[in-house]
Amino acid sequence: MEQPVMGGDDYIISAERLEKTYPGNLKALDDFTVRVKRGEVVVVVGPSGSGKSTFLRCLNGLEEIDSGSITVDGIPLDDREEHRLEIRREVGMVFQAFNLFPHMTVLENVNLAQQLVRRRSRSEATEFSLALLDKVGVSEKARVYPDALSGGQQQRVAIARALALMPKVMLFDEATSALDPEMIGEVLDVMRSLAGEGMTMVVVTHEMGFAREVSDRVVFMEQGRIVEEAATATFFTAPARKRTRDFLRQIL
Ligand SMILES: Nc1ncnc2c1ncn2[C@@H]1O[C@H](COP(=O)(O)OP(=O)(O)OP(=O)(O)O)[C@@H](O)[C@H]1O
Ligand SMILES: [Mg+2]
Repeated sequence: MEQPVMGGDDYIISAERLEKTYPGNLKALDDFTVRVKRGEVVVVVGPSGSGKSTFLRCLNGLEEIDSGSITVDGIPLDDREEHRLEIRREVGMVFQAFNLFPHMTVLENVNLAQQLVRRRSRSEATEFSLALLDKVGVSEKARVYPDALSGGQQQRVAIARALALMPKVMLFDEATSALDPEMIGEVLDVMRSLAGEGMTMVVVTHEMGFAREVSDRVVFMEQGRIVEEAATATFFTAPARKRTRDFLRQIL
């Protein structure tokens, strides 16, 4: 499919020289640059505390950067409120904790942001939500409350909820880490099919089998800096840095 070229290059995400220090002087991102092309799937790995979540949270404006610049689909994440809102709409995020509203049915959970943010009518939203719930394989649960769903089902609803805003980019922060092992596969399947449809994705995950199979590129970070960034096959079979080889030995 032909995609429009924005700003003279084909990067849908440009995160340039990000710096982020939390109170207490802890540097979470340090001269951190990542660019992502349309339709690319980039996996971010690194030890605990290396800044992976901080990076994703900065990308959609949940966290402020101290310096550097972030552009999503040609829109700069700057002080202009309309830019921030636009980026929130275009960047969907799925977290480890599903955060569904317990007092709303599955369908209402998926409808909510569409009605508020995309200004769809209730019936338009419902039609779209049911199609998405079908896509992630939980359409039969539309009328029940989240606590009647398994963890894997709740996470698939959370993915449908994010997709409901028709984002151009999806960020996944350890989306399967809180799940029982037998439910990890069903969520990875949904992520795999999204990638197959050409969704641009930035994925933090410990599922190295999934990373190897689905991602185009891997970014390995430590202490807020990039240690190594490579095409997936190269990353796993012929990493350039000793630090990467040590890390892979630990996790594989
Ligand atoms: N809200 C915060 N306030 C202060 N420090 C924070 C905050 N969030 C994260 N940090 C610190 O910033 C660093 C990077 O954290 P971050 O959560 O981005 O790491 P991570 O790579 O996602 O780790 P994990 O694999 O454990 O999820 C860590 O040292 C963390 O303690
Ligand atoms: Mg994290």
